[in-house]
Amino acid sequence: MAPRYLIETAGCQMNVHDSERMAGLLEQAGYESTPDAGDADILVVNTCSIRERAEDKLYTRLGELRVMEEEAGSRPIVVVAGCVAQQEGAALFKNTNGHVIDVVLGTQQVKMLPALAIQASRLSAVPSVAIDPWDDVSFPLGVARRSDPVRAYVTIIEGCNDHCAFCVVPHTRGAERMRLPQDILDEVREAVDSGRKEIHLLGQIVNHYQSREDPSYDFSRLLEAVNAIPGVARIRFASPHPRHTGSRLIAAIRDLEAVCKHVHLPVQSGSTAVLKAMRRRHSREDYLRLVDNLRQAIPNVTLSTDMIVGFPGETEDDFNETLSLTREVRFSSMFSFKYSIRPHTTAARDLRDSVEEEEKTTRIVELQALQRDIQNHLHEDMVGATVEVLIDAVSRRRRTELSGRTSGNTVVNFPGREDRIGEFAQVNVKRAGPYSVWGEAHDELVE
Ligand code: 5AD
Repeated sequence: MAPRYLIETAGCQMNVHDSERMAGLLEQAGYESTPDAGDADILVVNTCSIRERAEDKLYTRLGELRVMEEEAGSRPIVVVAGCVAQQEGAALFKNTNGHVIDVVLGTQQVKMLPALAIQASRLSAVPSVAIDPWDDVSFPLGVARRSDPVRAYVTIIEGCNDHCAFCVVPHTRGAERMRLPQDILDEVREAVDSGRKEIHLLGQIVNHYQSREDPSYDFSRLLEAVNAIPGVARIRFASPHPRHTGSRLIAAIRDLEAVCKHVHLPVQSGSTAVLKAMRRRHSREDYLRLVDNLRQAIPNVTLSTDMIVGFPGETEDDFNETLSLTREVRFSSMFSFKYSIRPHTTAARDLRDSVEEEEKTTRIVELQALQRDIQNHLHEDMVGATVEVLIDAVSRRRRTELSGRTSGNTVVNFPGREDRIGEFAQVNVKRAGPYSVWGEAHDELVE
C-alpha cells in the first residue's frame, strides 16, 4: 500500500501555495493523500508566525500529537514546515524536548521534503533541519497539486526587503527574489489548462515586481501579459504596497479586462506618526490621495485593507485617526489585528509593547464594529442590483447554496447546483448581511 500524507496549513496564501507544492512533491514520490492524521504516515504542519497566536497553534498541535502517540502507541512522521520552522530552526527540538518532531523544513527548502521524509521514515533516522536560504526561486512546472478548482495561486516574488517594524516576514521568507516572467506565464498557462479561471498573483509586495532580466518589465507589464493569456477570466493580486501603486498600475487595473476591480491595499494605521514608527514609508495623506486617484480612475473599484491596533506608542488620538480613515475610505473589507510582538523585528528590538492588552482589545472591538457597520451599508446598497459572480464553492452554511465573488470581491450566495462551480452567473441581489449578500441567479443570462 502506498504511504499516506496529510498537510495541515495555517496562514496566508503563500503558505497555502507552498502546501500545494509540497502535496505535489509527495505525490510524485509515491505518497497518497489522507484526510485523517491517525491514518497518515507523514504529517506536515505548515506553520504561520505572523502573530504570536498563529505560532502558538503549532505548540497546541504538537501537544495533541504527543497525546496521540501515547494513546495509539504510534504517530506519523512529523514535519514542521513554513514560517515557524524557518524562524526557529533547530530550536524547535529544544522547545519541545525533542519529542514529536522529525523534520524541520524551512520556507526556502520545500523541494527537500520528499528526501527528508523518506530519510525520516528509516528507523535509525535522526531528526533533521533544513532551513538554509536558497536563491533559486524556480519551481518545476505542473508539480503543485492545486487545492482550489477555480483559483490558482501563482507566486511572482518570494521574500521581502521592506522591514516594516512589526513584520517577521523578511526573516521567515528571506530577501526579495523575483521569478522570471517566462516561468510565471508558463505557470499561468498550465493553471488555465487545468481549468482554473482566476489567477492570484502572489508576492509580499506584489507590485514591486521587476524582471531580473529587463528592468522595464514591471508589475503593470506582467498584468498585461497575464491578461493576454486566453482562458484567464480573472486576475487578482496580493498584496500591493501603496508606495508602488502609481498611475501606470492604476491604468492597468482600469484597462485590463480580466483584472478585478478590487485592490487589497494594506494601510496598517490611519495615523502618520504611527505609520512612521512602523516604517511604512507612506503617510495618512499619501494613502488618502492614492485612494482618491484609484476611485477617480476606476469609479467602481472596491478597496480592502489590513489594519493593526495597539502598535507601540499608539495613543488614543492615533487610534481615532485609524477610525476616521476607516470612515473616510469605507473599505469593502478589512483584516484587523492587535499588535503582536515578533522576534527579529525592529519593533521588538527598539520599542516597548506599550499599549495594554485590554486597551488593544477595546480598540479592535470598536474598529471591527465600525467596519461591520460600513460593510452592512455597502452591501445594503447592492440590493436590487444584478452582479456578475464567478461561482467558486458550495456555500459553507447551506449545501443547496452556491457561493461566489463579484469582481469587487463581495461574497454572493444563491441557490444553485454544485456542478456550476467555475461558471459565471448573473445574480440579482435580494438581501444583505455584514460579510456577504444573498440573491437569485438569472439562469437565462449565464454565459
Ligand atoms: N502584529 C499584528 N499584526 C501583524 N501583521 C503583520 N505583523 C503583525 C504583527 N506583528 C498584520 C499586518 C499584515 C497582515 C498580513 O498581518 O496587518 O498586513
